[in-house]
Amino acid sequence: MDWFAYDFDHPAYFDHYRDKENDAFYEGPALAALLRLQPGASVLDLPCGWGRLRPALEDCGYHVIGGDLSPLNLQRHRSEHSGAIVRLDFRSLPFRAACVDGVFCAFTSWGYFATEAENLRQLQEFARVLRPGGTLLLDLCGRESLEHGVASTEGRWVELKDLGYRERVRWSPDRKRIWTERKQGGSSFRHDIWIPTDPEVRDFLDTAGFEVEGAFGSLRGGPWSRDAERWIYRAMKPQHGVKPRPVSSPG
Ligand SMILES: C[S@@+](CC[C@H](N)C(=O)[O-])C[C@H]1O[C@@H](n2cnc3c(N)ncnc32)[C@H](O)[C@@H]1O
Repeated sequence: MDWFAYDFDHPAYFDHYRDKENDAFYEGPALAALLRLQPGASVLDLPCGWGRLRPALEDCGYHVIGGDLSPLNLQRHRSEHSGAIVRLDFRSLPFRAACVDGVFCAFTSWGYFATEAENLRQLQEFARVLRPGGTLLLDLCGRESLEHGVASTEGRWVELKDLGYRERVRWSPDRKRIWTERKQGGSSFRHDIWIPTDPEVRDFLDTAGFEVEGAFGSLRGGPWSRDAERWIYRAMKPQHGVKPRPVSSPG
C-alpha cells in the first residue's frame, strides 16, 4: 500500500497533527485570503483532510467542495462540517474540465508520489479542472527552512513523551525527499515526501500549464524568501488555456 493511503487514514494521524486543529484558526483565513477570489467563487479544497480549513474558505463566501483519499478523514469531516465532500485521488479527479474558479492545496500536500510523472499529474489535474483564469493556491514547506529545522536531529530517534510516540526524520540518500518515521504502540508510520526546490516548483507549475502570479514566504503574503518556513504559490491557469508539455525526465 502507498504510504499516503495508510499514514493519513489511521487514527494516530489525528494525534500526530493535533496542533493543526488550533493552527487552522490563523492559517485558514490567511491562506483563503491569498486565493483572492470573489465571494461566490467555486473552490475545490484538495486535499480537505478532516475539513479544518473549510470554515475559513466558506467565510470568504466561496462554494467549497472538499476532496480527499482518506475515508477516515472524510468521515471526521462529515461529522464536523456540512457541505460537499468527495473521495478522490489527486491523479484522476472526478470533475469535468474547467468547472471551478479555485483549487486550494494547503499544508504540503504535493510531492507524495514516488515519481515525477505522478507529481506532475496532480498539478495537471488541478489545471484541467480550473476554468481559464482560475487560481491555484499551493502551500508548501520551504526547503531551506526544513533542512535547517531537521539538521540537529537528523537520523536520530526522538522520544516525544507528551505525545506518546517516537520520531525519526531523515533525507533520502539523494536528499530530494524527507522521510519521517513514527512509532506509536505497535504501529509504524513513514511519510515519504518530495521536497522540491523553488525552481523545481516553478518548472512543474509551468509544465502543468500554470503561470505563477505570486510567491509568498508567509501566511500574511510577505515576500518569498529562500529560508521562509512556507513557500506559498498563487498560480493561474491562463485565459488562453493549458498547454501541457512533457517533463524533461519523468521519474
Ligand atoms: C497534510 S494533510 C493536509 C490536509 C488539509 N489540506 C489540511 O491542511 O488539513 C494531507 C492530506 O492529503 C490526503 N491525500 C494523500 N494522498 C492523497 C491522494 N493521492 N489523493 C487525494 N488525497 C490524498 C491525505 O489523506 C491527507 O488528508
